[in-house]
Amino acid sequence: MTRIVVADPSLIVLVGAAGSGKSTFAARHFAPAEILSSDAYRALIAGDATDQRATKPAFGRLHRELARRLAAGLLSVVDATNIEPAARRALVTRAAGASLPATAVILDLPPSLVLARNAARPSRVVADEIVRRHLERLRVTIDARATPLDGEGFAQVVVLRDPAEVDAVTMVRERG
Ligand code: CTP
Ligand code: MG
Repeated sequence: MTRIVVADPSLIVLVGAAGSGKSTFAARHFAPAEILSSDAYRALIAGDATDQRATKPAFGRLHRELARRLAAGLLSVVDATNIEPAARRALVTRAAGASLPATAVILDLPPSLVLARNAARPSRVVADEIVRRHLERLRVTIDARATPLDGEGFAQVVVLRDPAEVDAVTMVRERG
């Protein structure tokens, strides 16, 4: 069993390819109001979670809401791929702005599993080549340092490498 201990309040940044199970993980461990999802903001703005033209305003809204929540001392989870270092950096900066720590939870699952999960989704199947690109970029970002995401400002980085490990996670909150 993997125990993940997070401060409450703090920021939790999920990292993983489309189809890796970020939203499923978030829904299992956090309350709906705590989860800020780029897809949900795209849907809100464009009426379609997959509308990439809505990406910029969606992240604008997500960041605004995140800053508000963190300033109010509310634990917040960002459910987006967060594969690019710049995306993670912007989020860590928000946490630092509220003097709160950030935890990264990386879903580094076997590519075959992620591709199969994506293909089997009842709705919103992401193009295979996009998922493959995410998986490649994720590999680069994890393998770039001996300790993944070292130097990015996270107080804690958790890497989950197999589905059984993900299933066995217990989330523990420590009142800050
Ligand atoms: N899934 C599963 N078992 C898990 C986790 C996820 O079968 N332990 C399935 C989900 O039911 C879903 C698919 O895998 O059909 C993708 O999971 P999801 O949580 O939606 O993945 P995300 O990482 O959120 O994908 P996206 O970035 O596209 O939102
Ligand atoms: Mg999702």
